[in-house]
Amino acid sequence: MTFKQMFTSSVGKKLIMGFTGIFLILFLIVHAGLNACIWASYFIDETMPGITFNKAAHFMGSNALPRILEIGLFVGIFLHILQGYLLTLENRSKRSVGYAVSYTKGSKWYSRSMAILGTLLLMFLIMHIYHFWTPSRLGGHFGIKGLESFEYNGTEYHNLYAAMQNIFTNIYVVILYVLACGSLAYHLAHGFQSAFKTIGVHNRRYHALISSIGYGFAIIVPLIFALMPISFYFNLIK
Ligand code: HEM
Repeated sequence: MTFKQMFTSSVGKKLIMGFTGIFLILFLIVHAGLNACIWASYFIDETMPGITFNKAAHFMGSNALPRILEIGLFVGIFLHILQGYLLTLENRSKRSVGYAVSYTKGSKWYSRSMAILGTLLLMFLIMHIYHFWTPSRLGGHFGIKGLESFEYNGTEYHNLYAAMQNIFTNIYVVILYVLACGSLAYHLAHGFQSAFKTIGVHNRRYHALISSIGYGFAIIVPLIFALMPISFYFNLIK
């Protein structure tokens, strides 16, 4: 397959969806793991609220490798969304000619709704980037208000923890985040297995295993994310 075919043929588009999907799954593991440091005070005696999380976020924001991967992440998200829409349009036009009557037969709700859930996730992502990433990376430029900073043991840190605490005092924002986590769960319930299938990691022996890991992942990771705004809103963490 040529480079051009990767972007123009159906198989190429699916391969891009699969590889970028797996890359995004890996990102979600790192993101959920790092953000879970907001609950560190339950396990270790922190010298100030949220310091473990702020230190972890500082590491990701100030080192070369995570910053390079961040560029890859935005490219991955863009390609995943673009190819996803193109494939959906392609499938719709084929179906309207070929089998208009049986269009919905046999396919599960989440399988047919990947585009709708993906669009909801895109809307969430725009709001989410505006909440945290823009003030953290571009704060002080283009009229964007930056994050509060503080000094700890001679190092200057952004107080992302305080930013989260502040943003999640708004019940409507909390509800939108929890709904987005629901969309993510449905999107992953189908997308996880589909990504592995597309890149060829599937046979009878591994099907049940990948399927169980996929469903487990689709429940656990969005649940961890959803518990973050909930924990702040109900003051379950200080
Ligand atoms: C619901 C709980 C979530 C919370 C509290 C949260 C929090 C954060 C924070 C604080 C940042 C800024 C990191 C930094 O600037 O160093 C960030 C970045 C980001 N988040 Fe989330 N996030 C959540 C869920 C999600 C979900 C579900 C997705 C994807 C579907 C996502 C995608 C991203 C992306 C793409 C970035 C920018 C890339 C980066 O710098 O890491 N987040 N998030």
